Amino acid sequence: MIEYRGLKVALLGAGSVGSQVARLLLEHADELASRAGASLELIGIAVRDVDAPRDVDLPKELYTTDAEQLILSADIVIELIGGIEPARSHILQAINAGADIVTANKALLATHGPELFDAAEQVGAQLYYEAAVAAAIPIIRPLRESLAGDRINRVLGIVNGSTNYMLDRMDRFGDTMEDAAAVASELGYLEADPTLDVEGYDAAQKATILASLAFHTTVPVEAVHREGITGITKAQVDLARSEGYVIKLLAIAERIVDETTGEEGLSARVYPALIGREHPLAAVHGGNNAVFVEAENAGSLMFYGAGAGGKETASAVLGDLVSAARRHVAGGPGVGESTHADLPVLEIGRVTTRYQVTLEVADEPGVLAAVAGILSDGGVSVETFQQSVASSDGTLSTATLVIGTHRALESALAATVEQLASNAHVERVVSVLRVEGAE
Ligand code: NDP
Ligand code: HSE
Repeated sequence: MIEYRGLKVALLGAGSVGSQVARLLLEHADELASRAGASLELIGIAVRDVDAPRDVDLPKELYTTDAEQLILSADIVIELIGGIEPARSHILQAINAGADIVTANKALLATHGPELFDAAEQVGAQLYYEAAVAAAIPIIRPLRESLAGDRINRVLGIVNGSTNYMLDRMDRFGDTMEDAAAVASELGYLEADPTLDVEGYDAAQKATILASLAFHTTVPVEAVHREGITGITKAQVDLARSEGYVIKLLAIAERIVDETTGEEGLSARVYPALIGREHPLAAVHGGNNAVFVEAENAGSLMFYGAGAGGKETASAVLGDLVSAARRHVAGGPGVGESTHADLPVLEIGRVTTRYQVTLEVADEPGVLAAVAGILSDGGVSVETFQQSVASSDGTLSTATLVIGTHRALESALAATVEQLASNAHVERVVSVLRVEGAE
């Protein structure tokens, strides 16, 4: 029998994810030891209430409310409390006590990542966070390690499962936004504060992490342009379907060149966008996540699977735990985050993409010429154009124009839409959506 070195593991949090991590760690101790080259002893679980009922039956004596004491005895600390404090302080304490850290805490990494990475680098510790983006899907390690020799140009992610579930219901079952939200809430898909999901905050936190890794640059969460899905209507979803698109909430990190200065930078943004039904991301249904990576040499890669769930997320956490244990066995300092590129994060106005603009206009002579003139003056080139007469009161009709543009600068498009909105022929700008996933 092989005698393994013993490593002490402290778990902070025993909620949906933490309880599954503890269960799997205890159930698969031998297998994990063989893979890690060290036995992993769970020395305690810090919680708020040691007597709270739990989904998983774990030895009572493991629970403690004294996280600080627990951390002092650990070689590896797994933080699954969530939020900023006390998670941040506990992680800093653990780093300074010489432990490696495993966390799934996207909110903390998006807001305090540089502070934690710096602290770890200073003492040679390592911080692992595979579960922080898209839970079970391996995406952090592929970006951080497997693709470290390539140059990534774009990352398009469906990284929020609950909003994907809602948009998917609207697309496939004809739900309204309200109906879809009610079902998502009933199934427990939404965060305790649903604004985090539907207003895109959760996706923006994940976009920060993805953009930082993909472009070797520290990207603050405040620099991520964020729009949620609350403005999306059933009519937009239906029109998208009829035009061969589906609406997805996308987290996008992209290498771009500022057209005015020639400066290379990156864009990080979250918004609902149209994506062609033939694109692999269009086939991501329900609460699943997927990340589509475009790299200069590797080409297009897609990472797909469960973006939430206790045991699914625990799988990624345990993978990190094994990596941390192997590192302890091998010795040597941790490897810091690569931020050497230090690209500027360009504002949304500097981005170019394609758009679909839907207008209601008076069905009368001169309208098309006026609309075409405004688009042309704004530097927005039309790729597709459709007109349908929507209604008629006997004298005047209203026509709907659906205009698909070639790639245009966001600031130019926004100014053009403003011009369209104030034109006398235009009754209403019904919808402006970006079209992503195509050149
Ligand atoms: P839960 O809310 O289910 O669990 C949180 C746990 O932390 C509870 O056990 C709670 O204790 C404990 N806790 C809270 N405050 C303290 C404190 N001050 N001191 C000690 N313990 C405390 O969270 P999840 O398991 O869902 O999430 C954990 C992390 O994983 C978060 O960062 C989340 O973003 C991330 N994540 C979660 C996913 C999921 O599907 N759930 C997916 C991907 C990432 P008590 O039980 O006593 O109240
Ligand atoms: N609220 C998140 C989601 C949970 O819907 O994807 C996983 O991070």
